[in-house]
Amino acid sequence: MKIITESRPANAIEAQALISYVFEGDPISGRIAEFDQEKGGLLKRLATGGELTGKMLEMTLIHAPAGLKAERLLLVGAGKKEKFGAAELRRLAGAALRHLKTRGVKRVAFLARESEATSAAAQSVTEGLLLADFEGDTYKTNKKNNEPIEWATLAGWDANSGAGEAIERGRIVAEGQNFARELANEPSNKLTPTVLANRAAEMAREMGLACEILDEKRIAELKMGALLSVAQGSVEPPRVIAITYTPANPIPGAPVLGLVGKAVTFDTGGISIKPAADMDKMKFDMSGGAAMIGVMRALAKLKPSVKVIAIVPSTENMPGGRAQKPGDIQIAMSGKSIEVLNTDAEGRLILADGITYARSLGCTHLVDAATLTGAIVVALAGINSGVFGTNQAFTDRLLASARSAGEKMWPLPMDDEYREMVKGSVADIQNISNGKGGGSITGAMFIREFVDDVPWVHLDIAGTAWYDDAKPWMAKGATGVAVRTLIDLAMNFTSEK
Ligand code: BES
Ligand code: MN
Ligand code: ZN
Repeated sequence: MKIITESRPANAIEAQALISYVFEGDPISGRIAEFDQEKGGLLKRLATGGELTGKMLEMTLIHAPAGLKAERLLLVGAGKKEKFGAAELRRLAGAALRHLKTRGVKRVAFLARESEATSAAAQSVTEGLLLADFEGDTYKTNKKNNEPIEWATLAGWDANSGAGEAIERGRIVAEGQNFARELANEPSNKLTPTVLANRAAEMAREMGLACEILDEKRIAELKMGALLSVAQGSVEPPRVIAITYTPANPIPGAPVLGLVGKAVTFDTGGISIKPAADMDKMKFDMSGGAAMIGVMRALAKLKPSVKVIAIVPSTENMPGGRAQKPGDIQIAMSGKSIEVLNTDAEGRLILADGITYARSLGCTHLVDAATLTGAIVVALAGINSGVFGTNQAFTDRLLASARSAGEKMWPLPMDDEYREMVKGSVADIQNISNGKGGGSITGAMFIREFVDDVPWVHLDIAGTAWYDDAKPWMAKGATGVAVRTLIDLAMNFTSEK
């Protein structure tokens, strides 16, 4: 989809649809009221009749609108003006696009309301449109109803508003997120650890990023016993993907941000096998790794001032004849011994070695993202990602980035008392708790054992990485969650620690 700014007045814009939005309680005001006079007060009548209220994502589609060059006028409900922000704007732009797409529209214009024509708003609208245009239909032979939008113009922005550059930034961010979604949507027969590594390496080459792929031999040399223990049950060999962005003028002693993403290309549970119902969804268990690869794709173009290294350990979790069994003891790369009491708690095992490797490469700050626990869905449903951190200042920075990127994330506790739950009886630690409850916290406490004192945040995205059903603003399937937050974090990461 091509996106450019539009300088013609709204009534002169030629498009198959002109999109704008109205606020609850005061739908016919400002720019919308100006239009309405040309249309003989039609909108006012709709509002009085209760058909146009401005309620969040309400769609009012008017064909052949009087006084406008556009073939259609789509007014989207924006909710209460006091609650309106970048996240709402991103969503309503996306919902508008998907509403029109199902009606065969290919060329649209988006008109900002008078007070919202800022560069930040242009970026939000761009992101919303591009995220909405993405379809998880790679393997459909008939894509008739899903053809992409040809172009969108952004109207209402001044020539000196910076909207042009904001559109470019929005495109880079949304393409990073869509790249992650495309990878996470792939079924496990099409995307093995080897294929994921090849896709990441190809992206890195195109974007001018350094990329190193560790194969099973190198992984064994590095003694990544925790990752290998998960991989040993599968005929597919594991990979560790390492992608590095280095700024043009690196400052000696500057922090290095490490992004570690879980990439289990299929999680059967291993010998502690999962029930059959909905097991197909476990192709999404590489969403954390996909997010980190998507972030790196965007950072290659956005060029943050600090070095960023993404580490993506990747494997299948299968119940093969060589698979690890409950009670097996493994030695992680860090040297710690782990009693594997449940082979389905495999994400924390591969992250353990991913984090040790990231630290060996000099990362001073770490963020991991993982579809780690079903328990996070119990705690936060599909609304918020879970956030766990050991360093309050760093955790606060991540939460600020999440807010500014419009991704909902919520902090959960990591008191020292929880450490008891992963303490081992026959090894240093065990990969599940003996007691009941706090499943997501136990997972975080296990990973913490490999982090030590490095400022670190763990994101449990098991509930937020996938939409079981389409949303008005996004197709069903992989969401690409955490990509926007981590791009924001990296872009605001400066040399002061
Ligand atoms: N990939 C799963 C987490 C998951 C479960 C994501 C359900 C989405 C829906 C993870 O590897 C896993 O199996 N976790 C176990 C941990 C348990 C054995 C301690 C879980 O959550 O059941
Ligand atoms: Mn599992
Ligand atoms: Zn898993």
